[in-house]
Amino acid sequence: MSTAPLLTLNDGYKIPAMGFGTYPMNDQDAETAVQAALLTGYRLIDTAASYGNETGVGHALKTSEIEREDIFLTTKLRGAEQGYDAALKGLDASLRRLNVDYVDLYLIHWPLPEKDLYVESWKAMIAAQKDGRVRSIGVSNFQPAHLERLIQETGVAPAVNQIELHADFQQAELRRIHARHGILTEGWRPLGKGLMDNPVIMALAEKHNRTPAQIILRWFIQNTIIPIPKSGNPDRMAANLSVFDFQLDEADLAAFARLEAGNRLGGNPDTHSEE
Ligand SMILES: NC(=O)c1ccc[n+]([C@@H]2O[C@H](COP(=O)([O-])OP(=O)(O)OC[C@H]3O[C@@H](n4cnc5c(N)ncnc54)[C@H](OP(=O)(O)O)[C@@H]3O)[C@@H](O)[C@H]2O)c1
Repeated sequence: MSTAPLLTLNDGYKIPAMGFGTYPMNDQDAETAVQAALLTGYRLIDTAASYGNETGVGHALKTSEIEREDIFLTTKLRGAEQGYDAALKGLDASLRRLNVDYVDLYLIHWPLPEKDLYVESWKAMIAAQKDGRVRSIGVSNFQPAHLERLIQETGVAPAVNQIELHADFQQAELRRIHARHGILTEGWRPLGKGLMDNPVIMALAEKHNRTPAQIILRWFIQNTIIPIPKSGNPDRMAANLSVFDFQLDEADLAAFARLEAGNRLGGNPDTHSEE
């Protein structure tokens, strides 16, 4: 069994270079899958209050023989709990459901610009970090303007921005801004849609004697983007994590660059809304 190497966040904490996604799993499925993922070697587990599976994730952690200190646990603040006081209550509710004293990374799930509460939520997260309930704080689905405003109004840059990112939606502009502020990029929906059947990816899979998913995930690793693939299947979980023993070369990376197509699959953060 191998585990992913660690990267260093802008606050000094370490984070595994690959994680395990848990959406859309219910408590029971998440418990089973996270138990398997931990046995497979995953050490970064990604959940969210809105996934409704924090209790299952918490059970998996408690029943695992892996020390809490060796697991990097991420959860996210749901839209209905944005705002200073509500965010602190939301965090406490997540900690209770997860049955842990702290999370390694707490993210604002979506900016929800129409609510205009993300700066207040961010101030609450800064406070929660000071009192130890969270180690690192970050955001998800934040656009350049949202990031710039957070930094300007609080002076604190997120450690992470978790965004939709795949080979045909490479988010070059956001990644440039992340690099400027030392923000690490996490990629959700890393396997994209139809990419595993893309002829370019299939040719690279044949060239390296790897699966298309492994080629895709290796590209993330070489770009220092943390992918958080989800799988309910232990064989695919293990295969997805086995990408630390080969290299894509310059020509392979150039082939990936040509796959960019601006192909957003999920919600647009500028307009995405939720209660
Ligand atoms: N921050 C956000 O707003 C946000 C939004 C969406 C997702 N996320 C997070 O990101 C995680 C990953 O995103 P995602 O689940 O949407 O997409 P994904 O991980 O790119 O794809 C998951 C799908 O791919 C399949 N799969 C996994 N490994 C495979 C392999 N080796 N070969 C073939 N198929 C494979 C899975 O099926 P099987 O289970 O059958 O293997 C599942 O249907 C989520 O679980 C969640 O934690 C965050």
